[in-house]
Amino acid sequence: MSQRDNYLKEMGVGVIWKLRERPSATSAPEAEQADLAGTIDIPSMDEMPPCFDDMVGTEAVSTVAMPEVSGMDWKALEETIRQCRACGLCQGRTQAVPGVGDPHAEWLFIGEGPGYFEDQQGEPFVGASGKLLDNMLMAMGLQRGSNAYIANIVKCRATDASGKDRPPTVDEAQACQPYLERQIALIQPKIIVAVGRVAATTLLRTDPQTSLAVLRGKAHLYRTPDGKVIPLVATYHPAYLLRQLSEKRKAWEDLCLAMRSLPSQD
Ligand code: URA
Repeated sequence: MSQRDNYLKEMGVGVIWKLRERPSATSAPEAEQADLAGTIDIPSMDEMPPCFDDMVGTEAVSTVAMPEVSGMDWKALEETIRQCRACGLCQGRTQAVPGVGDPHAEWLFIGEGPGYFEDQQGEPFVGASGKLLDNMLMAMGLQRGSNAYIANIVKCRATDASGKDRPPTVDEAQACQPYLERQIALIQPKIIVAVGRVAATTLLRTDPQTSLAVLRGKAHLYRTPDGKVIPLVATYHPAYLLRQLSEKRKAWEDLCLAMRSLPSQD
């Protein structure tokens, strides 16, 4: 069993689906490939990406005035995030969690915000859900430091009155928006994976109550403030998958969709 198969097994994906090679001029005809039951088809470079659905408004402007952020390099951006006092979350944080990974990654994974462990360690997705996210990356041939960057909608931990983690509010997400937009501009990812409902609804600017079930299963477009479009696929949050093991198969389907939606090399 390969290392990837092991990771898939740990993700709870019983039947191992293998990605086909992109068909080349010399590859086997479609009919021969079709007997690989359970495999997933990658569209050829000439085909349209699967069902792109532009759910992003045409207004390509940040709603938050922080013009200086849009010109920052990584060092200045991370330092600004660490010092940020743009919303109330700064009061409860141990430290801000800007993000981690390959600054030139093709793949950008965006979660909702740091929890207890992330707030302690200063890195996104550590702890059990982070381990599962790492396994998901491994299954795709990625690592958090290699061709993948991991960020969050908000950079500081949100807690409720009893000190438990809670999702960030719309206002908190908006206050952090310029930082994520600058991260996206610096990384220039080829694809974004929105991890969980908060990330998906924030990035797609849909009703925050929209269920993830509605948003997953198709490739959307994320529009940057300067009008570029980046394919975006939404999938379940690893913390949810750890509670709902049977949904891991759907998450793997989402990741396969994302792999198919990765734009070809220029
Ligand atoms: N959940 C998230 O969405 N992000 C983290 O960094 C950790 C947990």
